[in-house]
Amino acid sequence: MEKSTVINASSLGKSVIGPDGEIRILDAVEMTVNAGESVAIVGASGSGKTTLLGLLAGLDLPSRGDIHIAGEHLNALDEEARAALRAREVGFVFQSFHLLPALTAEENVALPLELAGRNEPGRAREVLESVGLGARCHHYPRQLSGGEQQRVALARAFVTRPRILFADEPTGNLDQNTGAQISELLFTLNHQYGTTLVLVTHDMTLARRCTRVFRLDNGRLFERAA
Ligand SMILES: Nc1ncnc2c1ncn2[C@@H]1O[C@H](COP(=O)(O)OP(=O)(O)OP(=O)(O)O)[C@@H](O)[C@H]1O
Ligand SMILES: [Mg+2]
Repeated sequence: MEKSTVINASSLGKSVIGPDGEIRILDAVEMTVNAGESVAIVGASGSGKTTLLGLLAGLDLPSRGDIHIAGEHLNALDEEARAALRAREVGFVFQSFHLLPALTAEENVALPLELAGRNEPGRAREVLESVGLGARCHHYPRQLSGGEQQRVALARAFVTRPRILFADEPTGNLDQNTGAQISELLFTLNHQYGTTLVLVTHDMTLARRCTRVFRLDNGRLFERAA
């Protein structure tokens, strides 16, 4: 793997056993992402985008093939080592946010710092301010709108300044203005800190701002010509 390669997937496949037998969600996926790139993954609902993101981020294990992220061979790591790698290198924005309901916005955002054993007082509040939620630090997820929860999820994903930020539909539930603000924020991270972005999106304006666009079609990945 080249030094500047941060993600490499080869012959990647994921199958699950459904009610009617094996379902090949992903098949023979090849993907290389270099440091500092921004990459969009587009495709129809059910084409495998969320599944692919979960594999690339080390949240889920492939049925076939190999994944390297940040120079580590994911397949060779046990659950604990994968969790440590994620805590160190990866931020993830889930399609359905996955905020912890018993924690305030600020506590949700501070959690990855704690998991990584980092003590950075004020950092969680600072990133919440950067997503326009300085006044919502003490709110619980149920007291926030969908778009606000999405911004908390984004703040939580980049609070550790991860090398790679994965985001599943980061602008999906937002109005156009807020969506545009979130896009700005993502590309600011990309430009200022060299954060590699891997975004799943239906938003073609967002996709076109990325350095490369991939399309998933029935579990097969194709790179689109610019
Ligand atoms: N654990 C599972 N068991 C069975 N089928 C699954 C499982 N997870 C995903 N699938 C199926 O795999 C396919 C891909 O799902 P995935 O969530 O990756 O799609 P997606 O491209 O993210 O769709 P969307 O745009 O709607 O979010 C779907 O047909 C889904 O039903
Ligand atoms: Mg999805």
